[in-house]
Amino acid sequence: MANKLKYEFDLKNLETSQHNSKGEMVTYPIENVSPDMSFLEMMDVLNEQLINKGIDPVAFDHDCREGICGMCSMYINGEAHGPDRLVTTCQLHMRKFKDGETITIEPFRANAFPVVKDLAVDRSAFDRIQHAGGFVSVNTSGNTQDANNIPIDKHDADKAFDAATCIGCGACVASCKNASAMLFVSAKVSQYALLPQGKIEATDRVLNMVKQMDDEGFGNCTNTGACEVECPKGISLENIARMNREYLFATAKG
Ligand code: SF4
Ligand code: FES
Repeated sequence: MANKLKYEFDLKNLETSQHNSKGEMVTYPIENVSPDMSFLEMMDVLNEQLINKGIDPVAFDHDCREGICGMCSMYINGEAHGPDRLVTTCQLHMRKFKDGETITIEPFRANAFPVVKDLAVDRSAFDRIQHAGGFVSVNTSGNTQDANNIPIDKHDADKAFDAATCIGCGACVASCKNASAMLFVSAKVSQYALLPQGKIEATDRVLNMVKQMDDEGFGNCTNTGACEVECPKGISLENIARMNREYLFATAKG
């Protein structure tokens, strides 16, 4: 029966780095997995089965379960967000795996993303980069401006929108052999750099965000392109080129 699939999972069950535990690989057989389940629904079933056996459930992050919050970050069979392209783990379905397959699940690994427990990692480094400049300062008192007051070239608006679809999941960092955050940061810089509203603070933005990225311990970009391949939102490498240009102009001004 299609709804009686049995999967085996290898989970890198890493304990919190604060406890200095090395972690270990744990295999959990799981039954009653439907091919129509999402990957996270399968994880819920696994955890239910573990709890019923008196075993600690596997810790993993999730929130929206519809591909917009970027929380469901994990490595599945050696790929960030699993074998499907342009989907997050929560949008991945079990029909992508074979019946009886052993699936290896690991947390995202990067020095700047310390493992909290099992598959949950601390990605607050991204928040701090965002706080360093990923915003526009707007006076909110008075009347609201008409939406079409500032005409924006359609091409630029589309590119800014594409960059803004970055959900901050961290797959780009986890897929990069250098653990570089350039794709994420460049998406956040680009979404403002392309719009007139973003130009006022452009110099400070790129300098502060890049500085914070370096302070957090992310690696350098060596143009391997792995980040673009694994990005569930299809964020383009051209954003990195744009950020480099922005950075160059900003340093030349300073
Ligand atoms: S650039 Fe892509 S992979 Fe990186 S954080 Fe944004 S959505 Fe995730
Ligand atoms: S849980 Fe929000 S993107 Fe997957």
